[in-house]
Amino acid sequence: MSLKLLVITILYAVTSALAQTHAWCDPDTPRCFQAIESSDLTIAAAFSNSTTATDFVGEIISPVSNKWVGVSLGSRMTNNLVVVVGPSSPTAFVASARMSSGFQPSMVYPIAKITQLSGSRTNATHWKYVFRCERCLSWTDFTGTPHTVHPKSQVQAVTWGTTAQPSNPNFGFSIPDTKLLFALDVASARTANYSSYF
Ligand code: HEM
Repeated sequence: MSLKLLVITILYAVTSALAQTHAWCDPDTPRCFQAIESSDLTIAAAFSNSTTATDFVGEIISPVSNKWVGVSLGSRMTNNLVVVVGPSSPTAFVASARMSSGFQPSMVYPIAKITQLSGSRTNATHWKYVFRCERCLSWTDFTGTPHTVHPKSQVQAVTWGTTAQPSNPNFGFSIPDTKLLFALDVASARTANYSSYF
């Protein structure tokens, strides 16, 4: 096998192994998204039709055994915007936008604004956090390098943990054991109804 063919074969194997989002509608609200459903988690996102908008609406459904879930909006942990959220009580959530410059605890990224939306709740088995993330589709990392979520398709990462109940936006947590990478179909997650989501 030629080197070129070998590289193409490996690339195909890697990309085809990546979890892909699919169309998914929240059963309790009129919102529809692109989502992955894996490890008893649902990670969903919806975007406006404007490719220059910098906000999106997200939804995270997690088993109550997870105290927090974090979603990196880029394919890696470092220098990417990471949304971290978990319930602070049976009726409230703490969410924050974070960024880390290396493999170390992240800091709050104050430019992004996360607003909790209707439909967020906790029941006996799962919590659900619905949010709008403004100034979240492009960011500048600590080295001054700009990043953007790709307007058509973006590899993202999700992690979660069963310890460290969130108490404030800067709450600390330990290195997650499991990471799930997935390809978010941003183009298919665009909706003309976007402004009705919040
Ligand atoms: C919600 C938050 C987090 C997300 C989404 C996340 C995501 C990731 C991902 C995707 C990687 C693979 C390498 C890369 O692509 O950069 C990684 C590696 C790593 N992360 Fe995180 N991470 C999170 C939190 C943390 C925290 C809090 C720590 C440390 C206190 C940490 C420490 C590390 C270390 C040491 C590695 C390299 C070793 C390994 O792969 O396990 N991470 N992380």
